[in-house]
Amino acid sequence: MTVRNPRLAIEIDRQKPLPIYQQICERFRTAIAAGHLRPGDRVPALRGLATQLNTARGTVELAYTILVDEGYLQMRGAAGTFVSPSLSASQMQAVAAGGRRNAPDVSSLKDAVGEKETYTTPNVSTARQPVIAVALSGEPRPLQPGLPALDAFPRKIWSRIVSRRARGGERALLAYPDPAGYLPLRQHIATYLGLSRGVTCLPHQVFITSGYRATLELVLRSLASPGDRMWFEDPGYLLARNFLAETGMQLVPVPVDEEGIDVERGIEREREARFALVTPSHQSPLGYTLSLARRMALLNWAEAGSRWIIEDDYDSEFRYLGRPLPALKSLDRQDRVLYCGTFSKVMFPGLRLAYTVVPERAVERVGRVACSMNAGAPTLFQSALADFIEQGHFARHVKRMRALYGQRRLLIAQALKQAFGERLTVELPPGGIQFAVHFAEAAHGPVDDVAVASRARDAGLAVLPLSNWYAHGRIRDTPRGLVMGFANITDTKEADRLARTLRACLDG
Ligand SMILES: Cc1ncc(COP(=O)(O)O)c(C=O)c1O
Repeated sequence: MTVRNPRLAIEIDRQKPLPIYQQICERFRTAIAAGHLRPGDRVPALRGLATQLNTARGTVELAYTILVDEGYLQMRGAAGTFVSPSLSASQMQAVAAGGRRNAPDVSSLKDAVGEKETYTTPNVSTARQPVIAVALSGEPRPLQPGLPALDAFPRKIWSRIVSRRARGGERALLAYPDPAGYLPLRQHIATYLGLSRGVTCLPHQVFITSGYRATLELVLRSLASPGDRMWFEDPGYLLARNFLAETGMQLVPVPVDEEGIDVERGIEREREARFALVTPSHQSPLGYTLSLARRMALLNWAEAGSRWIIEDDYDSEFRYLGRPLPALKSLDRQDRVLYCGTFSKVMFPGLRLAYTVVPERAVERVGRVACSMNAGAPTLFQSALADFIEQGHFARHVKRMRALYGQRRLLIAQALKQAFGERLTVELPPGGIQFAVHFAEAAHGPVDDVAVASRARDAGLAVLPLSNWYAHGRIRDTPRGLVMGFANITDTKEADRLARTLRACLDG
């Protein structure tokens, strides 16, 4: 069966295992790659193509929606649907070569560095600020941001479960893992998210990765195109910023206030960005919760332009005041949100297991990229984690840690207030396992928080300077402070000792 457009011959093979909407997508991609369809060409109307192919209008609509998401097509309302005029030659060649379709084309992105209103954080060394090395690996150090209580993890139970699995003789454990993740773990995650975060999803939408940055890589290789811009919270998660700089994404810094990311300012700065990367439950590093009004505004912005929101829900399990707001994803009626979670806080970061929940329309693409990109995470630990959850240890551990961290945050807040007095503003963290404190301006000007953090590092502490988390580096008005973790502080004595050590670093 062929449509009339002689340059676009679509044949549907109903014997093929590939669903019809995917066959349609493939035909469009190939026609574009071969130059049979050029940027700006009008493509057949939904109804017309559906009739031609003797298939449901919804099937063609799904294919078109996917192609719009991928950046191949552009819908212009009553005027019709067109091959995206901005489709670059490199993108078309990538398709033609059967290469990493939609993967960020770093070479072409790099040419675009430095445009008005956006910046590409090329790498740490070229950022206009002194940046303290973020060495989070190796021997854990006091006050290290993001580190859960290592003393309170139920190691015996975990060791028993891991060794039982290792001894079990299951052959699949020794073979290559499923790149999308171990199915029983994906099932547990889907159930858990439904119950605890209000996220409705099916296991096949859950992809297991080896950490948040691996999640970002999977998502961007699947969905990003050359030249794509991304709203990035300002201040925002330092490691993600550095990682995104490596991928060549163009970051658009969007300010954060007490209501979370300022969506209006984002629209003013770059309405046409294709991604927004946000931490709605517990803004990193300031700790604010994205207000409901902003959540709705963000979703509306994404829906209006078929844009993607990446929700980083890294530590929402720990909330000490009031009830946790459900995830942004739970409000996502149009499926524009990619939800990202990690086991680094609720279990331990050495486990290197995280996950993303991808919208139905992106499952096939992400699955394809997951297959080509990696060989999966170790089945031994995924299966042990599935057992840990199934046997109820996970829920018990999270509950215990919530109570423990609720107390430990009081210890550090009190100790800091006592040690610093007026020179530091300390607000009790409402959630998470790390927080930001702000220095009051000194008589001679703003405190050099990079120098303080550097002295603290020499004293064996792992705090980070707050000003480094801001996109434009340290200017006069950049807030100064420290970002630190509190989950490993065991008692008042230790909290006091650490606070006093930090205080000694303030004046050099
Ligand atoms: C803002 C934020 N997102 C995500 C993560 C999780 O990263 P990973 O899964 O690589 O441990 C962290 C860890 O500290 C974080 O601070």
